[in-house]
Amino acid sequence: MAIKKIGVIGLGTLGTQIAIQAACYGCEVKGYDQDPEAFQKTIQKVKGMMKFLGRGPTRPVEDWEKAAFQVKIEKELLETLKDVDLVIEAVPENLELKKKVWSQLDSLAPKSALLATNSSSIPVSRIESATQRPEKCLNIHFYQPAIGMNIVDVMGGTKTAPVAIETAKQFVRSIGCIPLGVKKEILGFCFNSVWRAIKKQTLYMWGNGFVDFRDIDRAWMVFTGQSHGPFGMMDLVGLDVVYDIEMSYYNESKDPRDIPPQAFKDMIDRKELGVKTGKGFYAYPNPEYAKPGFLKGQ
Ligand SMILES: NC(=O)c1ccc[n+]([C@@H]2O[C@H](COP(=O)([O-])OP(=O)(O)OC[C@H]3O[C@@H](n4cnc5c(N)ncnc54)[C@H](O)[C@@H]3O)[C@@H](O)[C@H]2O)c1
Repeated sequence: MAIKKIGVIGLGTLGTQIAIQAACYGCEVKGYDQDPEAFQKTIQKVKGMMKFLGRGPTRPVEDWEKAAFQVKIEKELLETLKDVDLVIEAVPENLELKKKVWSQLDSLAPKSALLATNSSSIPVSRIESATQRPEKCLNIHFYQPAIGMNIVDVMGGTKTAPVAIETAKQFVRSIGCIPLGVKKEILGFCFNSVWRAIKKQTLYMWGNGFVDFRDIDRAWMVFTGQSHGPFGMMDLVGLDVVYDIEMSYYNESKDPRDIPPQAFKDMIDRKELGVKTGKGFYAYPNPEYAKPGFLKGQ
């Protein structure tokens, strides 16, 4: 089955970008968010990100802007899910919320539709029981497409049919992205597990006063040639989102070393959430790491 029609539920940072990425490649996309303004608000933020990073997603920024108009924003969940081949859920990283939403998706989406979560840390095996179709449930995890990160993890749950996994991988390829198959369930999927190790160590180094976060970012930028480092990346993701993800890992391991440092929690309490609030590790829209001289430590 080829995926042609998709419904995206939750139009925040990721849902908006997923919807537009799919529309860019000719999918018929409908979106729903409990906040009717979410899509438009997020588009403005994403445009800002692309501006200071100096690049867009897998297609020219103009195509991406045009595709945003193709996404149909619905007021009702039922309308959003009518006739879709695939539903991608991108509501906040909270297991109970996701289960509640998935039980609605299961009752309203066509029986043939695949249900996917974009969760960064929750394997679908924890959510699938909220549905009557575990063989059609899976993780399709996008990174931040707006900054050109076109890799997507694809992972099944306990009963996911091989055909569902193959269909999902084909869909991912069809929208200009690279599927990263995960053969056996693991927290963090394929590349997110690697990113998680980087986050944990860099937050530990900064939060315990060993180094200035800017020096880690400088080193990373020189080492990899990227336009930003791990702290710049966390600002893009949203520090509250990073915190929730790290706490999901902690809830799994119960290892206190998995709890992010207090200084990080303090930033979140002060609403310094990164790009979305204009301040995180850096100040936006003109972060220090994008300014000339940053790499020289000036
Ligand atoms: N931010 C990232 O870089 C990133 C990367 C990969 C994956 N993810 C994952 O994607 C998911 C969404 O993250 P985000 O960063 O886009 O979050 P976000 O907070 O930016 O957006 C979530 C959206 O969901 C909406 N929402 C909440 N409850 C809802 C409901 N019941 N029905 C419909 N809409 C609802 C909110 O209004 C909001 O617009 C999370 O599971 C997260 O782990 C995030």
